[in-house]
Amino acid sequence: MKKVILTLTIILCISTIVRADEGMWIPALLQKNEAEMQAMGMKITADDIYSITHSSMKDAVVLFGGGCTGEIVSDQGLLLTNHHCGFDWIQKHSTVEHDYLTEGFWAMTMEEELPCPGLTAKMLRNMVDVTEKVLNGITNETTDEERAKIISDNIKNIIESVQKDTEYKVSVESFYIGNQYFLMYNEIFTDIRMVGAPPSNIGKFGGDTDNWVWPRHTGDFSIFRIYKDGKPYKPDYHFTISLDGVEEGDFTFVFGYPARTNEYLPAVAVDQEANVVYPVVVDLRTQILDIYNKYQEKDAKVRLQYASKHAGLGNGWKKWMGVIEGIRNFKGIEKKKAFEESFYDWCQKERRRVIYTRALREFDDVYAEYEKYRMATTYFTEAGLSIELIEFAANFAQITEVTKDTPQEEIDELVNALKSATATFFKDYYQPIDEEVAVTMLEAYRAAQPEDFRPEILNEIDKKFKGNVKSYVNYLFSKSIFTSEEKVNKFLDEFTPAKVKKIEKDPAIVAANSMMDFYVENVMAKSRECNAKINDLRRVYMEGQMKMIPEVYPEKRLYPDANFTLRVTYGKVGGFKPKDAVTYGYFTTLDGIMQKENPNIYDYVVTDRLRELYEAQDYGRYADKDGSMHVAFIAGNHTTGGNSGSPILNAEGKLLGLNFDRTWEGTMSDLIYDPSICKNISVDIRYVLFLIDKYAGCTRLIDEMTIE
Ligand code: ARG
Ligand code: GLU
Repeated sequence: MKKVILTLTIILCISTIVRADEGMWIPALLQKNEAEMQAMGMKITADDIYSITHSSMKDAVVLFGGGCTGEIVSDQGLLLTNHHCGFDWIQKHSTVEHDYLTEGFWAMTMEEELPCPGLTAKMLRNMVDVTEKVLNGITNETTDEERAKIISDNIKNIIESVQKDTEYKVSVESFYIGNQYFLMYNEIFTDIRMVGAPPSNIGKFGGDTDNWVWPRHTGDFSIFRIYKDGKPYKPDYHFTISLDGVEEGDFTFVFGYPARTNEYLPAVAVDQEANVVYPVVVDLRTQILDIYNKYQEKDAKVRLQYASKHAGLGNGWKKWMGVIEGIRNFKGIEKKKAFEESFYDWCQKERRRVIYTRALREFDDVYAEYEKYRMATTYFTEAGLSIELIEFAANFAQITEVTKDTPQEEIDELVNALKSATATFFKDYYQPIDEEVAVTMLEAYRAAQPEDFRPEILNEIDKKFKGNVKSYVNYLFSKSIFTSEEKVNKFLDEFTPAKVKKIEKDPAIVAANSMMDFYVENVMAKSRECNAKINDLRRVYMEGQMKMIPEVYPEKRLYPDANFTLRVTYGKVGGFKPKDAVTYGYFTTLDGIMQKENPNIYDYVVTDRLRELYEAQDYGRYADKDGSMHVAFIAGNHTTGGNSGSPILNAEGKLLGLNFDRTWEGTMSDLIYDPSICKNISVDIRYVLFLIDKYAGCTRLIDEMTIE
């Protein structure tokens, strides 16, 4: 085993050749990229970015909440992230009198900064390679089950042995699909307060219409502050802000917390993802979103009620369409297949070739088997649970298990939880939408899944309703109590174990149980089994690729998939050609906002204040040298979900903006990266400062930042 690890380490240390863009690099190993970064224009060192012996930029980057990145921009713990990352907190602090989502929020003094209990910021303090310790005891003869057990025991022991001696929270994270492990020391901050946010028609300008799209004009930022021991946190490092802006070809890097990528999948998996699963999800969501749109356009109240549901479904929907198209245009499957051919060739010369070739061949069978369960899961979640009535009724499954022996306290607790779920549900529920969704989704579900792969309720439609989904849906919505807040509350108020029998017969409960039972009994375990098998094969295939790529494709980038740990990615500023005869410039301006302005379209409303500033051209020192107000720009950084809010930095490590999206054409970069179309979108820091300073007049924040 030692030898395997040794060769692995050697491979990981092979330095990379000068080539831009692709890759999300482990900051502790950034020395290996330093020469390339400097050749591309970087004027600082890897040690300035990540060091454990002195303060460095890593001490100013945090995982914000569960899924975004934030950066510290003052010596008093001031934190910037995206508006869409702070959204939930802005919403939570909003009331009818103080609607911060609509109006924006600006704490004019530190006392006005609003606590956000439950919100955390996680800062990486140190990371150490513990691969050898984690894999200790594993030999070539170890079975997959034994391996999993040994690894989990080893990890447990490592954590136990170090946790007691450190103030930081430690964890062990797997890289390269179980081929490398790092021990992470994180400082967790639990007192984060809300400091500022622009109104949504700035912070979310363009809304879902422009989501994933370039050119973009969103002022996607919000401001928080880290407190420690009740006082503003004094960080070891904070970013200096540059007012220089960017030019085509400038070196940039992004430092943040990318969540998940799958760059080393076999062709069969990418094919399944892009050509089987995503098309179905996109199709189902298109149908649902069409229904939402129809009713949202008719009624302002419904538009608000379904805004967040629409955004939730729409984000993935739009991204996956981009992935499908990108994979097709870029010939992603063909490229993966060609790679696999050369992998087989290489294996002929490699001692352990049998293991690798077997893994690669086995993928076909496992994915073929997995497809059934993957589709069953997809229809269950995307079609079945998209029917809000059924999803809501599913919450009541637990209450149908109450018996006369259940302690009263437990019942009370359950009833109270369901009462609050009921209030939340009906606040944003519009039955005509749901009925139409139900008909459409059940029809799609029934048509797509073979009889033995359908929950019983779908077969009942055939038996009891002569296959007429509409009449079943009529029956479902007219007979169930779950369409009426009053009836549900009455049921909860008067609940006794004796009522279980009756509620069990409610058609929404029957439908929910039928779908859930089918999933749990026939899909879940099988799906997990396939997944475990796939993971083992992927680990082996990854190990093979880690040996083969540096030998056969020295120009190809080898970096671990995103796994929610801190990474550095770098690339140059620049526009691109998304398709034939179309060229995109690399920045947008306030003029573009005014061109998009339309008081009748929710996503394109511009406030009077912003228009006034625009008309007065009152940009102060935040104007570009061309005199205009730059809003957003694109660059070739390899980012993904989780990188939202990440600092985008210039050659000197000074803050240029906040990453908030990718261009739609390049969203396939989670599976295959193509530098010609994969671009990240950032809001220009000068627009952010202009809004804080000139728009909101919150100059105290400007004063505490370091601006050059
Ligand atoms: N596409 C971005 C991301 O994946 C932004 C999503 C939020 N914005 C929106 N308009 N829905 O998170
Ligand atoms: N908006 C995404 C996020 O919230 C970033 C876009 C992407 O997937 O690159 O993390």
